[in-house]
Amino acid sequence: MSVSSSGSAAYSGSLEGSNAQRGLWSSRFAFILAATGSAVGLGNIWKFPYVTGENGGGAFVLVYLLCIAIIGIPIMMAEVMIGRRGGHSPVNSIKAIAQRDGLNPAWKLVGAVGILAGFLILSFYSVIGGWAISYVGTTASGQLSGQTADAVGAIFSGLLSNPGTLLLWHTVFMALVMLVVAKGVRSGLERAVSILMPALFVLLLIVVGYAMTTGHFGQAAAFLFQPDFSKLTTSGVLVALGHAFFTLSLGMAVMMAYGSYLPKKISIAKTSITVSVIDTGVALLAGLAIFPIVFANGLEPGAGPGLIFQTLPLAFGQMPMGSLFGTLFFVLLIFAAWTSGISLLEPIVEWLEEQKGMNRTVSTLGAGVVCWALGIASILSLNLWADFAPLGFIPMLEGKTIFDLLDFFTANILLPLGGLLVALMAGWVMSKPAMEKELALSPGTFNLWFVTVRFITPIAVGVVFIYNLM
Ligand code: TRP
Repeated sequence: MSVSSSGSAAYSGSLEGSNAQRGLWSSRFAFILAATGSAVGLGNIWKFPYVTGENGGGAFVLVYLLCIAIIGIPIMMAEVMIGRRGGHSPVNSIKAIAQRDGLNPAWKLVGAVGILAGFLILSFYSVIGGWAISYVGTTASGQLSGQTADAVGAIFSGLLSNPGTLLLWHTVFMALVMLVVAKGVRSGLERAVSILMPALFVLLLIVVGYAMTTGHFGQAAAFLFQPDFSKLTTSGVLVALGHAFFTLSLGMAVMMAYGSYLPKKISIAKTSITVSVIDTGVALLAGLAIFPIVFANGLEPGAGPGLIFQTLPLAFGQMPMGSLFGTLFFVLLIFAAWTSGISLLEPIVEWLEEQKGMNRTVSTLGAGVVCWALGIASILSLNLWADFAPLGFIPMLEGKTIFDLLDFFTANILLPLGGLLVALMAGWVMSKPAMEKELALSPGTFNLWFVTVRFITPIAVGVVFIYNLM
């Protein structure tokens, strides 16, 4: 494993093995690329607009932004810090810190929550990644050009009603993820992030530019940024909290794994804030791109998971060079989803390697195939099992399909729970001087962070959980 000394190269080596001499990210930039690659994904472009639409807009967005600022950023700092201090894969990092600081090894549970969450999330994430792959063909073929909202909606329903097609693209997406994880070398991919992420950003700007011509941009901006608290429900607050974790890739020790490769001299606070700001910026842009199209075409903001696939194709069908932009957009979306999907599978594979002594290819194949098989349940809940709500007898889960349940349970329960454990570990049990040294902040800023992870995060997560249970 080599440590690159040239400033521009990305992390050079595999993310495997904790006992081997570990390479480090070659620069602050390389870490930011990897962390951004994980954070920016379907969560920003697919999920953020549709959960915002479902939860009434402005007030939900405000709570989501507060969750990012008050809970997300401090937790990201804590994860990166634990990873860097531990210097191993998440489970072993925690073990190492436990030994050094004399804590209970049961804190390893954080890693276990992460592995379970990653596994469940990837199973449905890959299905949605498959939708994006399918839309490359849809846009490239030019069949969208000049279409009405109804026709675009019919294309989307057509996709959902066809389990075979969904399975094909789900398989392709999962194979892409497994390929990179099995090879263990991601330097090329990280370098690609530095070109493709800005490209995605530019394309979003182009769609926002088009959206401004629809005459409904003001309405969309008001929907997103003028809070109407009468539309906010307790479950909306839970979704906002869960989405803050989901979109920043928090709560399952991914940032911990990445943090273990961060050189000591790099500021954890600055890098965490940078990643969070980029991630939030992409989500807000996606909202500004999509909602003008929603309102201009009389569509329903709360249409659910299909929202971007029923709106963006309309825009691409109408704007000049729409087929080209549309094709590019979905290619870049696949890429963003791909780098996120890798970061969902990686911890599981690393864990299998370390704990079960399996080699990387076998563990990738094993974990990937089981995850792929679970994805079939999500596929079927879009068509044959669309009316099957296994836990429908619980009022809060009424009408939720297997796909909805997986999304709900992971984003809204498991990830905040993982984040809560991280906060408790940093806030209550780890050695404070060691954390001060690791974070290297001014005393005032350190205390602000410390009070947040010690009190604010646990209380906020606890209150949201308790309210929703009642
Ligand atoms: N953050 C990614 C997105 O928004 C999804 C993701 C990747 C994730 N890795 C994660 C979510 C780890 C939680 C934990 O698309």
